[in-house]
Amino acid sequence: MKHIKIGLLGLGNIGKGVWNIIENNKNKVESYIGSSIEIKKILVRDIQKNRDISVPKEILTTDPNKIIQDPEIDIIVEVMGGIDTAFEYIKESFKNGKHVVTANKAVIATYGDILYELAKKYGVALRYEASVGGGIPIINTLTQSLSANKIDELVGIINGTTNYILTQMSDFEMDFNEALKLAQKKGYAEADPTSDIEGEDAAFKLSILISVAFGIRISPNEIPREGITKISKKDIEYASQLGYKIKLLAAAKKLDKNFEFYVHPTLVPIHHPLASVSNEFNALFIRGNAVGELMLYGKGAGSMPTGSAVVGDILEICKIIKTDYKNQSIDPFKEINLNIIGEG
Ligand code: NDP
Ligand code: HSE
Repeated sequence: MKHIKIGLLGLGNIGKGVWNIIENNKNKVESYIGSSIEIKKILVRDIQKNRDISVPKEILTTDPNKIIQDPEIDIIVEVMGGIDTAFEYIKESFKNGKHVVTANKAVIATYGDILYELAKKYGVALRYEASVGGGIPIINTLTQSLSANKIDELVGIINGTTNYILTQMSDFEMDFNEALKLAQKKGYAEADPTSDIEGEDAAFKLSILISVAFGIRISPNEIPREGITKISKKDIEYASQLGYKIKLLAAAKKLDKNFEFYVHPTLVPIHHPLASVSNEFNALFIRGNAVGELMLYGKGAGSMPTGSAVVGDILEICKIIKTDYKNQSIDPFKEINLNIIGEG
């Protein structure tokens, strides 16, 4: 029975969720994969930091090579965030024959095509379920369960921080800054929350969704976007008087010969299902030509929900490791010829 060893890059909100799930659900996890599993080493910036988690200090390191080049480690889990350093560490991991799981939407949206090709070249797997929608199984649903469909439309709330802020401003009359601070405290926001509130995080995620759902590569920079920084309590109040909620929506839709996509605050009628998605919850409406309409809903941010998606990916890779591995990465960037336009 193979003992599977994991190297964790990062022990912040999500790294801690991954550690806790593997420790707390050990029996369930090990019986699912039919092997024992262990997080062998963890990369951090500051070993002395008080972390409020019972991880032995001896397994923490500030040297990425001690993890990425460790011949005993099978899977690297990148939960550090950022783009360029994360990209380098993932590439190095592939070169060292490691499978990789990441929650990093910025790195997948920016370099997913290159990483997919590299994973193929080195015969390893790349998984990124947690990069969109936190704990909601969106990537697996689109790439596996709905693989028989042509997807026509995606619309949803795919940023937990902004949805949390808008909910607090609307339902509890909280100030924007106070709500943002709470979202940060709860571990929903990015290290630099500008990415959340300016719509960049949602654009990263929409870029990934467009790739997996429509097979088209749209850079996050090409997605027209507006965040929620201009939304005032007065706007929310007026919207409510007219029977609407303000939500930061991300959408992509196939038109006759074109394709439209955007991220921006939208008036959603109060009785529409997306209007009742509150706090850190996310929801994605999907229309496929066979399945019709469906909606996925759940916690889109936070330590344990996101950790759940990361560990799910780890376990799928463990099952691959135990069989004769053939490339089973999910290709995020299949090319299809369509005429692309942004909204407006
Ligand atoms: P945090 O900022 O809480 O944690 C980052 C961790 O990575 C810290 O432990 C930090 O070390 C370590 N780290 C960062 N940069 C380096 C570096 N250069 N070298 C060594 N260690 C480093 O981030 P989160 O856990 O919130 O997010 C991690 C990733 O998951 C991001 O890509 C994010 O977008 C994604 N994600 C986050 C979700 C959320 O709800 N927060 C949900 C879905 C995805 P130290 O502790 O010493 O500072
Ligand atoms: N900052 C992100 C959000 C984390 O608030 O949705 C989940 O990807």
